[in-house]
Amino acid sequence: MQMMEMSDELLRLMRTAGKVAVLTGAGISAESGVPTFRGKEGLWSKFRAEELATVEAFMNNPQLVWEWYLHRRELMNRVEPNPGHQALVEMEKIFDDFTLITQNVDDLHRRAGSENIVELHGNITRNKCFECGRPYFNEITLEGGKIPCCECGGRLRPDVVWFGELLPEGALDRAFAASQRAELFFTVGTSALVHPAASMPIAAKRSGACLVEVNLEPTPLTELADYAFHGKSGEILPHLIERLTDDRKVP
Ligand code: OAD
Repeated sequence: MQMMEMSDELLRLMRTAGKVAVLTGAGISAESGVPTFRGKEGLWSKFRAEELATVEAFMNNPQLVWEWYLHRRELMNRVEPNPGHQALVEMEKIFDDFTLITQNVDDLHRRAGSENIVELHGNITRNKCFECGRPYFNEITLEGGKIPCCECGGRLRPDVVWFGELLPEGALDRAFAASQRAELFFTVGTSALVHPAASMPIAAKRSGACLVEVNLEPTPLTELADYAFHGKSGEILPHLIERLTDDRKVP
């Protein structure tokens, strides 16, 4: 595992690799002003996940759950993608086969311009029916304290994955397939504690990928990584792209 210095070997691999996958977590959006989940300032140090992000919580107190998600939706609408998100848009242009797997629900990758995105935990900007799963595109308001309903009579909920729920099947398959065929796999801004998302870099490494970690601090994946860059993704990712594009200009 090599720290910080961009080695010639990694540059060479980035120059030649065709199949690249990236797993992102809340850390990539931190520089945009979206709070992460863990750590001193993380959401789960201030709120109880079981009261806000589970099926039971929604059944017991849908009003409270919706208020929390509408609050976060409003915050995420107000912020902008940062240079880390933008660097991943550049990567998609450089590599032939590029998949961006994200645990984030904040929609910032799509807003930055990334296209081949696999959203493992859903997307906070969307709604769906709690009963039949049908998507609902109109704006949600909680006027009169009433939870809006679907045509089928079921209550509407945010289209995110709650604790204890299965991940969207298609998303999981696409994410594993991209991880297993990747020659180069980047894990960015994730504590790598929540599975199955955290299994993607492991699957990639087992299938022979070079694993690169970009994170503010070491994680359980650091030991497994071939290269670990510890710092802000909004600084490290643009630097990697800059080195790569400079290098491509050299005959
Ligand atoms: P976490 O909050 O667990 O971890 C965020 C990671 O990003 C930490 O390791 C930080 O050190 C790192 N970090 C913070 N700022 C950074 C920066 N500017 N640049 C680089 N790294 C930075 O968030 P996730 O790993 O995304 O699930 O959490 C995974 C899942 O747990 C979430 O999707 C969510 C949560 O409960 C669900 O809601 C289902």
